[in-house]
Amino acid sequence: HDGDPNEPKEIASLAEAKIAIEECRRCPLYEHATQAVFGEGPVSAEVMFVGEQPGDQEDLQGKPFIGPAGQVLDEAIEKVGIDRRKVYVTNAVKHFKFEPRGKRRIHQRPDGGEVQACKFWVDLERQFVRPKVVVALGATAAQSLLGRASVTISKVRGEPIPLDDGSVLFITNHPSYLLRIPDAEGKARERGKFEADLAMVREVME
Ligand code: URA
Repeated sequence: HDGDPNEPKEIASLAEAKIAIEECRRCPLYEHATQAVFGEGPVSAEVMFVGEQPGDQEDLQGKPFIGPAGQVLDEAIEKVGIDRRKVYVTNAVKHFKFEPRGKRRIHQRPDGGEVQACKFWVDLERQFVRPKVVVALGATAAQSLLGRASVTISKVRGEPIPLDDGSVLFITNHPSYLLRIPDAEGKARERGKFEADLAMVREVME
C-alpha cells in the first residue's frame, strides 16, 4: 500500500489498530453492523484463537466471543487448563454479517472477498501479538489463515501446521458447531474432540 493516498497512515500498535478499524471500509459489511469488533487479550498472549465473525451479542457489545459460542470456548479453555492470561481471541471478519428477519438478525457466512479484505486486520493482530500458537475455529478462520478458498476441518484437524512467521496453526471446529448438534451423544462426542484439540494447543504452549 506504499504511497497510496487512500490508505491510512501506518498502524504502529495493537491499540492503534483497534482505533483505526472503526473507520474500516475495506468491504461493505461496516454498513449494517453496529461496530467493528476487534480482538481482545494481552499483547503478550501466547495463543490466538480466531473465530469467524462477531455474532449478534458481540456486534452490540463490541467484544469478541461473549455470546453462547464464547461460553463454549471459555469452558473448554478452562477445562483443558489453558492459562486465560495467555489467550487472545479474535475473528477472521470483524463486522457482523446478518440478514434481518423480523426482530432477529440471522448470521450469514462471510464470503471469500470479505475474509480476504479483513485479513489485513488479522495479519496486524498476529504481527503485534506474535502468538506461538494460532487456533482457527472453523473453516472460515482456517481459510483466512491459510489463504485457501476452502478447508475441510476433518482433514486438517489435530496436526500442527507451521505458518510463515514461525508460529503453528491448529485447526478445529467452531464452538457454534457444537451448539448446533441436536443429539446429546453426538454433542458430547464432538465436545470431547474439541477439548482434545485444545489440550494439544496447551501442550504446544508449554
Ligand atoms: N462466533 C464467532 O466466530 N466469533 C464471535 O466472536 C462470536 C461468535
